[in-house]
Amino acid sequence: MEMYDYVIAGSGLFAGTFAYLAGQKGKKCLVVEKRDTMGGNLYCQDIEGIHVHKYGAHIFHTSNKKVWEFVNSLTEFNRYTNSPIANYKGEIYNLPFNMNTFNKLWGVQTPKEAERIIESQRAAMKGEPANLEEQAVRLVGTDIYQKLIKGYTEKQWGRDCRELPTFIIKRIPVRYTYDNNYFNDAYQGIPKGGYNPLIDRLFAGCDVELETDFNQYRERYEKLGKKVLYTGTLDSYYGYQYGKLEYRSLRFESETLNIENYQGVAVMNFTDRETPYTRIIEHKHFEYGTQEKTVITKEYPQSWEEGREPYYPVNDHTNQTLFEKYRILAAQEHNVLFGGRLAEYKYYDMDKVIEAAFDLADRELA
Ligand code: FDA
Repeated sequence: MEMYDYVIAGSGLFAGTFAYLAGQKGKKCLVVEKRDTMGGNLYCQDIEGIHVHKYGAHIFHTSNKKVWEFVNSLTEFNRYTNSPIANYKGEIYNLPFNMNTFNKLWGVQTPKEAERIIESQRAAMKGEPANLEEQAVRLVGTDIYQKLIKGYTEKQWGRDCRELPTFIIKRIPVRYTYDNNYFNDAYQGIPKGGYNPLIDRLFAGCDVELETDFNQYRERYEKLGKKVLYTGTLDSYYGYQYGKLEYRSLRFESETLNIENYQGVAVMNFTDRETPYTRIIEHKHFEYGTQEKTVITKEYPQSWEEGREPYYPVNDHTNQTLFEKYRILAAQEHNVLFGGRLAEYKYYDMDKVIEAAFDLADRELA
């Protein structure tokens, strides 16, 4: 009855990296994916020849050379550098917070002048920060907080910054140079042709069953493989027996526009409280597209409930305690491996997901 070495629940980057490495060792994998597409959140939908990041903008960045060489061995990357723009009620600022931002805010030209202003605003906040507002002002002062952090964060979490815990913002990167590159990593880019060719290569040797929830047919699939790799949510694997873990979700509204260039940049953040969405993504700019039309996507944060995509784990004390109970169950399994952002209930950048899959493969396939 066991036809496969691994039955893999989910077809995201964690599953794909493991499946690829298992295939290299001659292992046979069956992939069971509940969506009708492969690739998890990396999946790109082709609209007007533009690769639309259907589950949110994905920019690959890493300082891990091994990870960078791995993805480049599978598909070619372009030189895209993320330099998002903040739009506060029509005022345009560069991100991350840098000398261009400070010049626009205060007219300053030198790092010393900018430092002086930020220091004087931070100094006004005394004592231990009691909430996210106090924490943010303590880190970057009042002006940056009011114009560029407050509204965006409140939309993202659906709560006033004075009601949000400090742990959400541990540090806010401030750069005293005129460098608009959002990431500090050594390598960055977008796969030419979008993420689907990368996904195709990762799963090339696997059998695949789409539109199938592994948990619904668990007994059947467990019999088909010597081992299971499960990359879905951990609470759903255990039938929510201790309760549900909380997430924040997003609603994406995409439009095709009959113009060549809508906002001149891939990522624009709307940092006021009134604009109901947090960002507009103009996908063609990820690949320097020259198509006649353009596709934009507005991102609306929303609460999570069954049937919505779980995007951001809410890693507060209550949820972490609940997750720990599920993790103890998972640690007792013999033939089931767990991995990826959902099973580990953590926000994971793509390069870190690949690193984690490398680690699992090292232990498992040695
Ligand atoms: P992922 O969620 O991609 O895959 C899990 C798969 O399992 C899904 O396809 C799901 O349908 C399937 N599944 C779940 N339960 C199942 C079940 N019971 N049966 C069958 N299938 C099941 N990172 C980065 O480096 N740069 C970036 O710019 C971004 N941007 C970004 C934007 C947004 C909005 C989010 C939420 C995340 C990012 N990320 C990111 C993070 C990135 O999305 C993340 O690193 C990878 O998607 C993680 O891959 P996984 O395989 O862990 O999960």
